[in-house]
Amino acid sequence: MARPKIALIGAGHIGGTMAHIIARKELGDVVLVDIVEGMPQGKALDIYEATPIFGKDCKSIGTNDYKDIEGANIVIVTAGVPRKPGMSRDDLLGINKKIMESVAPNIKKYAPDAFVIVLSNPLDIMVHLMKKITGFPKNRVVGMAGILDTARMRSFIAMETGLSVEDIHAIVLGGHGDSMVPLPRYSNINGIPLTHFLSKEKIDAIIERTRKGGGEIVGLLKTGSAFYAPAEAAIQMAEAILKDKKRVLPCAAYLEGEYGVNGFFIGVPVVLGGNGVEKVIELDLTDDEREMFNKSVEHVKKLIAELENIK
Ligand code: APR
Repeated sequence: MARPKIALIGAGHIGGTMAHIIARKELGDVVLVDIVEGMPQGKALDIYEATPIFGKDCKSIGTNDYKDIEGANIVIVTAGVPRKPGMSRDDLLGINKKIMESVAPNIKKYAPDAFVIVLSNPLDIMVHLMKKITGFPKNRVVGMAGILDTARMRSFIAMETGLSVEDIHAIVLGGHGDSMVPLPRYSNINGIPLTHFLSKEKIDAIIERTRKGGGEIVGLLKTGSAFYAPAEAAIQMAEAILKDKKRVLPCAAYLEGEYGVNGFFIGVPVVLGGNGVEKVIELDLTDDEREMFNKSVEHVKKLIAELENIK
């Protein structure tokens, strides 16, 4: 059986980091695609030259030609522009829309059977465009956001409690923006409720820091946005699909009635396995949680409406 083929569209900070992780995990062969000439080829060769050192077999090639993604099992899209300090993810709407319009048709043409994971921002909108342009079924198009937002929340809980990140579970729903909905009620430390360890004030501060977590990194880096954690999150999703793991992970999934949402991508817990998004898990929400969730959905809908006006 051939090794899985993973195409990474966008060979920038996240793309390059993902290629490295894939090789280290020996998940499959990598094709790095970018519009910049030489850069994807250089990164791919550098990674391939590292494989004898860490002892994993993984072909890694870089290209500017979409034809090279032919037969890819998974395509992960980070093509786009990251934000700079002072920008929101929404400020990327116009420019990344145009990039998605050039990327998606090529995926449709050269990798019509692939599972597509989108990371480009504003995430919920870009993944919507990807599905619309490719026409792929909803199980094969998914956005990466919830795992990252949740990992940020887990890190902040670990920092505050001094306990292991491994034991900390959290969940964040909604759109991938400042209106995301961290759910402390569903978060715990190996089954023990967060309130056992942290005061309400501390939990509220963690929620606020989680919502602004992406901006915090942008403010520190100044020249771009987070890439190590987003890359890890996307590869966790790819691995769940490639190994049919049936993982329960928060992802941006296309909803058709679940959570009262129809025809939009929103962050919700899903079962991710060999058939992509195999199931959406509906959580019971309190009135307050529901209100926050609905607000986040309205924000995503507003941006999708704006999309129509951007030529
Ligand atoms: N086709 C292929 N690659 C493209 C295209 C295109 N049409 N347009 C831009 N790119 C490439 C750029 O040349 C660049 O190498 O996408 C890459 C993006 O890499 P970075 O600028 O390093 O950005 P990164 O940090 O990887 O983030 C990418 O993910 O988290 C989001 O907001 C972030 O939208 C941004 C995306």
